[in-house]
Amino acid sequence: PTLGVVLVAAGRGERLGADAPKAFVELHGRALVEFGIAVATSLPHAGCLVVVVPEDRAAQTLDLVDRIVPAEAPWTVTVVPGGRERHESVRFGLDALPESIDTVLVHDAARPFASANLFERVIAEVRGTGDSVVPALPVVDTLKRIDADGIVHETVDRAPLVAVQTPQGFPRETLAAAHATAQLHTDPPTDDAEVVQRAGGRVRTVRGEMNAHKLTTPDDLRILDSIMTGNAV
Ligand code: C5P
Repeated sequence: PTLGVVLVAAGRGERLGADAPKAFVELHGRALVEFGIAVATSLPHAGCLVVVVPEDRAAQTLDLVDRIVPAEAPWTVTVVPGGRERHESVRFGLDALPESIDTVLVHDAARPFASANLFERVIAEVRGTGDSVVPALPVVDTLKRIDADGIVHETVDRAPLVAVQTPQGFPRETLAAAHATAQLHTDPPTDDAEVVQRAGGRVRTVRGEMNAHKLTTPDDLRILDSIMTGNAV
C-alpha cells in the first residue's frame, strides 16, 4: 500500500458543548467518525488508514471498524490514541504509518461528508505536482476586522482569501519532515498545511466542496443533518 490516511478524531470539541467528543457525536444513530472511516476505505487504492481517537474510545472505534470496513477492502486500519493538540494527534497518526506510504492525506473526522471525489482530487494533485494540497472555497461574505468590543475597524479585501478544508494531501516525506522540525507548541497550527508552510514548503489549492463542512458549533449539526438528508438548509 502507498496511500496513507490519518483520520483525526481525538478532539474534545469544547465549542460544541456536547456530552461526547466531537467525532463521536451521532447523526441519525451513526458517530461522525464512522462516515470518515467509510469514505476513506471506499477509495479504490490499497492503503493504510490510521484513526486517531481519545484513549477511552479505542475499543469502540475498533468495533466500528469491524462493522464498517468490508473484509475485501484493500485497506489496513489501525487505531491510535491522540494528543492534547490537533498537531500532536496528527503526528501520532503519521508515526503509525508503515514505511511504504508515499502519499498521506490528513482528514478531520469532524467533516463527515467530504466526498470520495474530493479525496481523489487531492490525491491526484499531490501525485501530479509533488506539492502539498488543500481543498479551498472562496470566501463569499464581506469581511471586517473588529476589536475585542466588537467594533468594526476596517473591511478586509476578500479577493485573495479562501477558506480551507480537509482532506489535505502531502508527499509523506514533506509532512513527516515538517512535523519533525517545526516548532509547534508555542503557537499551535490549526491545520497541516500550516505545518508545511512553516517549514518553507509549497502548498497549492484544489476546489473544495460545501459538503466538507466541519462540525464546530451546535448550528453546524443542523447543516450536517441537511447535507446528510439531502435537504437545502
Ligand atoms: O477542534 P477542531 O475543529 O479544529 O478539530 C478538527 C479535527 O481535529 C477534529 O476531527 C478533532 O477530533 C481533531 N482533533 C484531534 N486531536 C486534538 C484536537 C482535535 O484529533 N487534540
